[in-house]
Amino acid sequence: MRKLKGIKAMDMHPQRKHMSKLRSFVLAGAAVLTLAACNQQQASAPQPAAAPPPAATADAGEKKAGPAGGHPLSEGVSEEEYGEFVARAEELVNVPVNDIVKSIRLNAQATLLGKAVYDKNCAACHGEDLKGKAEAHAPDLTDDDWRFSGDDLDSGGITKHPSDIEWTVRYGVRSGEAYARGVEADMLAFDPQYRNEHDLGDYGKIKTVSAEDIDAMAEYVLQLSGQKADTAKAVKGKELFLDNAKGNCFDCHTEEGTGNPALGSANLTRKETFLYGSDKASIVETITKGRRGVMPGFGKTLKPEELKAVSVYIFQRALKEPAPPAAPATVATRVPR
Ligand code: HEC
Ligand code: HEC
Repeated sequence: MRKLKGIKAMDMHPQRKHMSKLRSFVLAGAAVLTLAACNQQQASAPQPAAAPPPAATADAGEKKAGPAGGHPLSEGVSEEEYGEFVARAEELVNVPVNDIVKSIRLNAQATLLGKAVYDKNCAACHGEDLKGKAEAHAPDLTDDDWRFSGDDLDSGGITKHPSDIEWTVRYGVRSGEAYARGVEADMLAFDPQYRNEHDLGDYGKIKTVSAEDIDAMAEYVLQLSGQKADTAKAVKGKELFLDNAKGNCFDCHTEEGTGNPALGSANLTRKETFLYGSDKASIVETITKGRRGVMPGFGKTLKPEELKAVSVYIFQRALKEPAPPAAPATVATRVPR
């Protein structure tokens, strides 16, 4: 039986305690509400996530699809299309961002303006196609994976709304601004010599794992993410992962390794969402030296209507459900005896 005697710094720091509580809360809520959300989906289609207006298909930005009613928005909307069919940009200012997606007129304007704002302010890091850029460690914005929490009460944060994205865009990630995302935790350096000021404040120079331990945990992360791994090392790595006096990884990534959206910790079971590389060497580097992803906040540089528009644009482009799994590779290869 494992004795639950933790590292002092990790156990006693008030933020850690708070964090664990937050984690339990979010997870408990999530577990209960996933079921509820599934049932609800059919019965009373929750608004923005399940029923985007026709103008807002995933590639509205590319194809310039028109709103229902057949008014194609060509490059640059013609003057007479404004008003009845397309709202003017200023109209977005006084409408809550989650209501913009319910209106054909407002949504059409948000999509137009949002794309322009995106191309100018976001594409450099997230890519022209929104698919993320490895060099910038910036995530794919078109997948169904959001690192950071939603604020939806009914679903315990599972259902995402444009306002969740607006928060991230307004305050950024570990940007130094009040209300920024990700300030509760970063991926700490397990080799103390690489720790930044934040982690030194939380953990000091305490050393809980050896280079060999890190190697084993990296093998376990390979296994978790569905990649080829050294099984014996992965078994040891898993023990360290779940040992709160050693790796303590589960404290931030959950026991299943699926990540905690309240912290913005990565989902280690989906390698395609990794921001720092999912090969062995990159994972070893992540654990050894730590990671602290930063995105600037745009609350002070974008106008209110631009902030809303770009958030709606991103929201509309993202997948609302996981992509269907690839067909299992082994099915056809069974040889009859
Ligand atoms: C300087 C590079 C940079 C720029 C510019 C930038 N981002 Fe980001 N963005 C990032 C990084 C890096 C992250 C991931 C931070 C982390 O979690 O480690 C991120 C995360 C996000 C997320 C959170 C995704 C999630 O999974 O929860 C959203 C949404 C987002 N960016 C939208 C935008 C929008 C919209 C703009 C333009 C207004 C923008 N970003 C501009 C670098 C950038
Ligand atoms: C104090 C909380 C915390 C602990 C403990 C922690 N992590 Fe993390 N981890 C994070 C956060 C937050 C991120 C996201 C960092 C970012 O986006 O810049 C992260 C990111 C990662 C990544 C990078 C994924 C990617 O996007 O490329 C890996 C791999 C990882 N952690 C593995 C581990 C392992 C293995 C352990 C245990 C040895 C561990 N983590 C312990 C908080 C933590």
